[in-house]
Amino acid sequence: MTELHAPARPDVAVVGAGSVGATIAYAALVRGSVRRVVLHDIDSAKLEAEVLDISHGLSFTPMGSVEGSDDVEICRGARVVVVTAGAKQKPGQSRMDLAASTVGLMRSIMPRLVEVAPDATYVMVTNPVDVVTTAALRLTGLPPQQLFGSGTVLDSSRLRHAVASRIGVAVQNVHAYVVGEHGDTEFPLWSSASVGGVPLREWSRTHGGALDGQALAEITDDVVHAAYRIIAGKGATNYAVALACCQIVESVLRDERRVLPVSTLLDGDYGLRDVCLSVPTVVGAGGALERLVVPMSADELELLHRSAHSIRTAVQQVGV
Ligand code: 2OP
Repeated sequence: MTELHAPARPDVAVVGAGSVGATIAYAALVRGSVRRVVLHDIDSAKLEAEVLDISHGLSFTPMGSVEGSDDVEICRGARVVVVTAGAKQKPGQSRMDLAASTVGLMRSIMPRLVEVAPDATYVMVTNPVDVVTTAALRLTGLPPQQLFGSGTVLDSSRLRHAVASRIGVAVQNVHAYVVGEHGDTEFPLWSSASVGGVPLREWSRTHGGALDGQALAEITDDVVHAAYRIIAGKGATNYAVALACCQIVESVLRDERRVLPVSTLLDGDYGLRDVCLSVPTVVGAGGALERLVVPMSADELELLHRSAHSIRTAVQQVGV
């Protein structure tokens, strides 16, 4: 009889077993996104506890396995590496406040990860994600397609949820993206947003005022400040970001070619280069395959340039 064992190559290696990393591992197994998950963290007691807790639920999930180690070797040969390790944002802190400490951490972990998983697609999640992604690209020399950040995939989901609940339609039928920095300078692309084929800018006129200018401003404010509210209440955000990451990982592993606003190194797009930020991008086997050219209003383009400026300034201050 053939011996039953898990395949040797991890589908996904999650680096950092904090609340985000552990929830990504959990969500990936519950969704059946992957068959084999490995978790790596230097805190072996926390790691062991998370792995045990997740593995005790595996009889209720699609077929899968989870292992953990404080040795980075466990990530060897991973198809996707998701990096969540880093300092936690405290109530009142902005993501940018974490830049110096997390970039310092990337200097020590990224070269070793690339040694054990040179062919993996890298998804950076650690904040400030656009600065961390820029730093990780410089530190590893990996091609920009192969290493990118989770960006504003989460914020776009927050946006879609906020719009959907105001007007009473399914979130899946709201098509709208948050772009720019995953942070304080992000903004929604209202000019191209739509609901069931109705341009969002026309919704108020045709459907009774529910999404007038004031409503859009309130929604923007809610989305930009969502993480602050959650962190003030429970110390961290973990569920929605984990699901956003699962969607990115699935799109890579299954070559789904979903259009997701991940953070990639711009190369002349929208008049910007040498800065990582989020715009709608096709994600599939091989990583971030192609950035879309979304029509933007003059105001939106200016906001995108401001957001890029803020990320660039932070990168320069950290000095990568
Ligand atoms: C979030 O937006 C804190 O970046 C994290 O939930």
